[in-house]
Amino acid sequence: MRNLVLCGFMGSGKSAVGKLLAERLHMEFVDTDAAIEKQTNLSIPEIFAQRGEAAFRRYETELIEKLSNESGRVISLGGGLAANEANHPYLKRAGTVILLDCGIDETLLRISGDAGRPLAAGGREDIVRRYEQRAPIYRKAADLVIDSSGSVRQTLQKVLSALEESK
Ligand code: S3P
Repeated sequence: MRNLVLCGFMGSGKSAVGKLLAERLHMEFVDTDAAIEKQTNLSIPEIFAQRGEAAFRRYETELIEKLSNESGRVISLGGGLAANEANHPYLKRAGTVILLDCGIDETLLRISGDAGRPLAAGGREDIVRRYEQRAPIYRKAADLVIDSSGSVRQTLQKVLSALEESK
């Protein structure tokens, strides 16, 4: 099987759902944020502070390009990866792209003030603006769109059903 790629905004559940999805389907799990942290030996806030956001975006593109040439994984993307249309050809090549979206109100509840997410530090209005700006770009990349406003288990079930139906 090609890869299953989870995209969406911060807090949409990509990492939590991706991990369970990989377990359920006996696939390897990769989280792009975690892979970049491992590769640089820095946390995401440290990368932003020490090397800048542009460097982080380059690491993301290099990683997804590499992963798109391989298969058999569940790949959870950092929230900005599918927001950059230049990465879309790699996502298409990687496999089935599943967008998780929990809606703006739930997003704000989940991520406001999260110190581990540099781009969630700008406050409510900034998050809403970014969410609205990215929503149509995520949709362009997505093969399947899943409402992830419920629990992780509920979202997992929805993803599994959508995959089954899309066969
Ligand atoms: C980002 C989302 C984060 C992380 C970085 C930038 C974004 O990942 O890659 O802080 O631009 O939306 P999560 O979506 O896993 O929080």
